[in-house]
Amino acid sequence: MTRIIINGSRGRMGQTLLACAARDEHLTVTGAVDQGDNLSSLLPATDVVVDFTFHEVTPLVANLCQQQKCGLVIGTTGHSEAERRSIQKAAERIPMVWASNYSMGVNTLFWLTRKAAEILGPSFDLEVVEMHHRHKKDAPSGTATTLLEILAQVRGVQLEEALRHGRQGITGERTASEIGIHALRGGDVVGDHTVIFAAAGERVELTHKASSRETFAVGALRAAKWVVGKPPGVYTMQDVLGLQ
Ligand SMILES: NC(=O)c1ccc[n+]([C@@H]2O[C@H](COP(=O)([O-])OP(=O)(O)OC[C@H]3O[C@@H](n4cnc5c(N)ncnc54)[C@H](OP(=O)(O)O)[C@@H]3O)[C@@H](O)[C@H]2O)c1
Repeated sequence: MTRIIINGSRGRMGQTLLACAARDEHLTVTGAVDQGDNLSSLLPATDVVVDFTFHEVTPLVANLCQQQKCGLVIGTTGHSEAERRSIQKAAERIPMVWASNYSMGVNTLFWLTRKAAEILGPSFDLEVVEMHHRHKKDAPSGTATTLLEILAQVRGVQLEEALRHGRQGITGERTASEIGIHALRGGDVVGDHTVIFAAAGERVELTHKASSRETFAVGALRAAKWVVGKPPGVYTMQDVLGLQ
């Protein structure tokens, strides 16, 4: 039996995680924690914290977990470079799964995107489009960022230099080296991502559409069970699924 704390329990993902965990006979929820609650007092009686909160919160949670030698699953996105470094420091002492997306379908999309970029090569222009609900606080999404990182890696370019966020005004012709990203926001869209490979005469589009948050919650809970007892370090959902 794995003992877990859900951090961000009153949020959209937190509520879904609690509902899914209640149906899992291998999990016990030892804490449902949100803004204003005392996370640290609950840590001694738990194996792993599942964090779906806000980017500023995760480094503090990671630090508390490393003090108590407790595993961590990070779903929160939108971290700054400094926050990322601080979280990675904590991973020297505890195991954590850190994924921009916990769905099986999106992790397959990551794999397919790498393959397609390798096969299609530099004559195809690369663009990513994502759409999320109107309440999402960060852009582009963490999942889109992972897709962009994969594309930049295959192309052998620095993402910061290649990236074009939307386009406006007299932009000039598109260069072959740029990678476009477009973030749409509206309504209650759970999460759509499309990777476009466009060349003269043809276009390939890989699309994933999430219609329920359960797909992320089930994956994150699977990661929580998997991470307990692993050596310290940062693992991805690809590790959990055995896709590496
Ligand atoms: N990796 C994935 O597969 C995946 C999937 C979906 C979403 N996400 C990410 O998960 C995060 C949460 O998404 P969401 O849609 O559930 O957001 P949400 O509905 O805003 O929920 C976040 C919750 O965290 C709470 N919170 C804020 N500060 C806290 C603190 N210091 N301690 C404990 N709880 C705190 C918020 O409280 P207040 O409302 O009072 O601030 C809120 O209840 C986002 O970064 C999102 O991008 C990741």
